[in-house]
Amino acid sequence: MSEKVTILAIESSCDDTSAAVLRDGVVLSNCTANQEAHRQYGGVVPELASRAHQANIIPVVEQALRQAGVGKEDLSAVAFTRGPGLMGSLLVGTSFAKALALSLDIPLIEVNHMQAHVLAHFIEDPKPAFPFICLTVSGGHTQIVLVRATHDMEVLGQTLDDAAGEAFDKAGKLLGLGYPAGPAIDRWAQQGQPRFAFPEAQVPGLNFSFSGLKTAILYFLREQTASNPHFIEKNLADLCASVQSAIVSTLLKTLRRAARRTGIREIALAGGVSANSELRHRFEDLGRQEGWNTYIPAFEYCTDNAAMIGMAAYFKYLRGEFCGQDAAPYARGFLP
Ligand code: KG4
Ligand code: ZN
Repeated sequence: MSEKVTILAIESSCDDTSAAVLRDGVVLSNCTANQEAHRQYGGVVPELASRAHQANIIPVVEQALRQAGVGKEDLSAVAFTRGPGLMGSLLVGTSFAKALALSLDIPLIEVNHMQAHVLAHFIEDPKPAFPFICLTVSGGHTQIVLVRATHDMEVLGQTLDDAAGEAFDKAGKLLGLGYPAGPAIDRWAQQGQPRFAFPEAQVPGLNFSFSGLKTAILYFLREQTASNPHFIEKNLADLCASVQSAIVSTLLKTLRRAARRTGIREIALAGGVSANSELRHRFEDLGRQEGWNTYIPAFEYCTDNAAMIGMAAYFKYLRGEFCGQDAAPYARGFLP
């Protein structure tokens, strides 16, 4: 038997079915099947997501094993996302992982999706030093996490309503852009100026609130299009730049507050929204001003992916943290 630790990791918390193989913490493969079925509905439809995971999971796992050049008999453990996420989606990955671990008689490792987004920073160099602060921004979450060690994290603040990615997507929907709208807003904003000011929510502590932004945009567009029906088409680039600037300013203001309060200068960004070009640039500019060391993982490890689940699982494997066949998925929560 080989001494190396080879982990198959499965991620199925939302609308991407992903499988990865890691050997001793090194990613050998990371394969993802995106689901197109949701596009026409302007958001993820849970029942469709669950059915698509069922159709995708076996081909994606086979592809990940093939690309890694690894056979099932070489695996040391199977890891899966236990939560948070959509229940129907989580159940597919969870059941598959349990069945595979049982049939191969190898350990099972459950992983928290939000902790995995943070631990994606350990896939490649440069890696942040402990303690660090991570701003995780995705379609489902907006969190500021204090990371003392790979197994010791604390949520310092989070959104009280919509996530940052959701704010991009909902604003984009009002502007007639497709789903998910984040990337389209990013593209349009590059040709525009942030000349429309939207009010920023005043939220206590290190928390966020983005639902007021959506309402402010809705009322603003209603008022403008009443007298000028082509207002959106004529001002799309400036509208996108204004929405993006408002979201990025809120995120960075709170992140700076977290860094100053804790005195920590190792600062990291994670989640799908960290693909946003303005957020990346302004995060690095702010880092230079504040004397931070800043970290952003490669794009493929920022969006939902199984490699980050495998990374988190590898740390758990080294600590001997395994779970039983009775580990049920959970829809919410940072720690199981
Ligand atoms: O992490 P992720 O792939 O999935 C979740 O766990 O939610 O994040 C998806 C979110 C979507 O809301 C999408 O609009 C947003 O990330 N997003 C962006 C950009 N690329 C993806 N938002 C703004 N600018 C982008 N370039
Ligand atoms: Zn995610």
